[in-house]
Amino acid sequence: MRIAYVQMKIGFGDKEANLRHAADLIAACPADLYVLPELCNTGYLFASRRQTQDLAEAIPQGPTCEFYAGLARRHNCYLVAGMAEKCAHSLFNSAALFGPHGYIDVYRKIHLFDEEKICFDPGDKPWRIHDLGMARIGMMICFDWMFPEAMRTLALAGADIVCHAANLVMPYCQDAMITRCLENGVFAVTANRVGQDIQGEKSLSFTGKSQIVAPRGVLLHRAGEREPAVFAMEIDPVLARNKLINSRNDLLGDRRPEFYRVSSNPDEPEPNVGRLRGGR
Ligand code: ACM
Repeated sequence: MRIAYVQMKIGFGDKEANLRHAADLIAACPADLYVLPELCNTGYLFASRRQTQDLAEAIPQGPTCEFYAGLARRHNCYLVAGMAEKCAHSLFNSAALFGPHGYIDVYRKIHLFDEEKICFDPGDKPWRIHDLGMARIGMMICFDWMFPEAMRTLALAGADIVCHAANLVMPYCQDAMITRCLENGVFAVTANRVGQDIQGEKSLSFTGKSQIVAPRGVLLHRAGEREPAVFAMEIDPVLARNKLINSRNDLLGDRRPEFYRVSSNPDEPEPNVGRLRGGR
């Protein structure tokens, strides 16, 4: 299976040029699965919720989805792309999955970063895994990387490949994703942007370095920081199904959830305290 990141330079609000840019990069590099950046049709730095509303589209009825569905059909491939989603009165920072037969599903970013909390509503659907036949994939968006529970949830649900659409502005994620892949035994494709968004006095620079990481925490390929790029490589997704580290240790099987807390609220009882008191 050939998996690819598409690292884009995005013009804020210029959907037509951004979609053409994505299509050109995809056409230049054959693959079975492409991951594109977060919000890659519109740009990232919205001035207000009102402006987000003006640029957001319905998924899958909007023109951006129609464009990506056409691309996936034409190239007989799967693709994951970030876009602002309008759904009734809600606005989501979403990633949509398309395949050779069109639109498949949407993931709505669960962990919003900084001013995204003004412009978007937090994701309202649980993570789902999609079995594409050649691999089982899950989606996450940018700042989700900061929460180990995100990738753990995808790994526990059976993901072989995590498709990570990003607009990274801090310098930590690319290296952190190596640990995420090691601790979960999965592949990850992080597709980031290059360049800047400028809104009046505000600007954000995006850090590039899109990458593909393998289950043992092996960095297979990393892009440069400044230029758009597309890169595809052959992987065997089934490698992600072997969670053994040695003959006695299994990454997921050795977990001790009865000792883990999922909440920082001191008033909440430890989830399995009864089971611990009663012994195993
Ligand atoms: C981010 O979540 N786009 C930083």
